[in-house]
Amino acid sequence: MSAFNATGDVSSTSVLIAHFRALESTRDDALFEDPLASALVEASGLPVGQAKLEHVITSRVYESVAARTRYLDDRIEAAVSRGARQVVLPAAGLDTRAYRLGLPDGVAFFEVDLENVFAFKEPVLEQSNAKATGPRSVVPADLTGDWVKQLTAAGFDADVPTVWVLEGILMYLTDEQNDQILDELSAVSAPGSELLFVSFAPGMIAEEQTKELAGMATAAGIGFKSHVADPVAWVGARGWVIADQTTIKEFGATIGRDVPYDEAQFGPVTWLVHAIRAE
Ligand SMILES: C[S@@+](CC[C@H](N)C(=O)[O-])C[C@H]1O[C@@H](n2cnc3c(N)ncnc32)[C@H](O)[C@@H]1O
Repeated sequence: MSAFNATGDVSSTSVLIAHFRALESTRDDALFEDPLASALVEASGLPVGQAKLEHVITSRVYESVAARTRYLDDRIEAAVSRGARQVVLPAAGLDTRAYRLGLPDGVAFFEVDLENVFAFKEPVLEQSNAKATGPRSVVPADLTGDWVKQLTAAGFDADVPTVWVLEGILMYLTDEQNDQILDELSAVSAPGSELLFVSFAPGMIAEEQTKELAGMATAAGIGFKSHVADPVAWVGARGWVIADQTTIKEFGATIGRDVPYDEAQFGPVTWLVHAIRAE
């Protein structure tokens, strides 16, 4: 019996992503190490370990997860070195950055996700005896509800510079829901805060592999609902300035990883974006 429904449950997607982080961690040329990922995947009871990397779609999702993890890890660490003292992970899933990044003392992590994710995740982490590198709070909340209120109740301080990490979530929500989430987090972002996000880009509509991926997601009951047309317009309207913007394909190439899909013909398919709060 699994903690998650195998299909139709968006929370189960967090297990596949953790599986890919576990696999990446075993490579000689690993882009990061996530020592807790395999225990979380095993405890989930989901058969994601059978995902075959030689399948082109699986390999593309695997390489995307590996590349985006590295992109975000580097920028979280850099933001903290510039003074951010809170890291908030909306839709944290089975993320273990609070344990593995080794940030300086006093940097607080806040993980927000649906209640069933933490009901599963917390006992597994406790059993592992792993210690978070700083204060870590979990916030069981729906991002389409009053999650910022719950985040604040958990100790989040709107006066403290924060790094926000939106990873593997925006495509599961509608444009309206994403606008709302961005409005809400922007309203509580102190000067010096930074925003990191991964999202589909307009090329996702026509690019063949992404269409296949979208079809698989729809068949599993968790179809993709949105993409970000223009990161500058999306975040700029809420007081953020883009520090860097690339695609997962382009970023992969800079770290020696081919994310196997063709965006030359269709334009950007997946954005990786780093923005800084305008003073
Ligand atoms: C693909 S996983 C990504 C998890 C994590 N960010 C990562 O990259 O490993 C998507 C996550 O979004 C969460 N999620 C989906 N809809 C949500 C909502 N409305 N409120 C809070 N979390 C949500 C799911 O429970 C799941 O953990």
